[in-house]
Amino acid sequence: LTAKERPTVVWLHFAECTGCSESVLRSTEPDIATVIFDVLSLDYHETLMQCAGEAIEEVLHKTVKEKEGQFVLVLEGAVPTKDGGIYGKVGGKTMLSILEDVYPKAKATICIGSCSAYGGVQKAAPNPTGAKGCSEALGGAPMINVPGCPPNPMSFIGTVVYYLTKGMPELDEYGRPTLFYGETVHENCPRLKYFEEGLFAPSFDSEEAKKGYCLYELGCKGPDTYNNCPKVLFNQVSFPIQAGHPCIGCSEPDFWDEMSPFYEE
Ligand code: SF4
Ligand code: SF4
Ligand code: F3S
Repeated sequence: LTAKERPTVVWLHFAECTGCSESVLRSTEPDIATVIFDVLSLDYHETLMQCAGEAIEEVLHKTVKEKEGQFVLVLEGAVPTKDGGIYGKVGGKTMLSILEDVYPKAKATICIGSCSAYGGVQKAAPNPTGAKGCSEALGGAPMINVPGCPPNPMSFIGTVVYYLTKGMPELDEYGRPTLFYGETVHENCPRLKYFEEGLFAPSFDSEEAKKGYCLYELGCKGPDTYNNCPKVLFNQVSFPIQAGHPCIGCSEPDFWDEMSPFYEE
């Protein structure tokens, strides 16, 4: 990372809400300015770039051609695959064809967020566009997944920096770096002592909820969810359970279908 030339990153947006980009923009340690001016060369990112239209298309093609085999590809969003992928297009090309074209030219690929990693809400039943996670859309192509809706920016930037300095991180069976996804939310939850004592909040507006009792009986999926939220916190301030909301399992594959109903009351 102290080399003169900063590693090139190409960031593609597919079917998503841009919440993952928004999350990374709020990174504080290191802040985003340090990341994109001192650590990486973010050569293509549709939301952050000033240019648009043909000019931005040219930047993508030029970067991918000149840096073939050298750049890190970041993917945000699921990929519609039904009917040849016509339900998601950028610059007149299907997202699927863009992925098929750019992926083989990258040195490594990191999926940011549960949409690109596993399909996200776009893949939830009845999935009218045939949306898939990026790896699945390419028949199981190897990628590093940094899921969450959105993931903590520290997990994403930590993964990028780890890859650039030490190489491929250890991944779990769902492609997640164990460094950030090796423990469940439940294991580190500040309400765990109440779970162990059998003290559960009966409703969101109860005195027990305000006292910090466990949210399991209100639908919390923390015991089945691998993520570092309670340790890292968002903006170093809080995370859903600390704010009184159960974990909905946002870093697990297909959580919109598999973890619902999110609330039980
Ligand atoms: Fe938005 Fe969540 Fe998808 Fe990220 S993972 S793009 S925050 S819907
Ligand atoms: Fe576990 Fe959820 Fe209860 Fe926390 S609130 S202790 S994660 S069940
Ligand atoms: Fe997501 Fe659960 Fe953390 S909903 S943000 S994994 S507490």
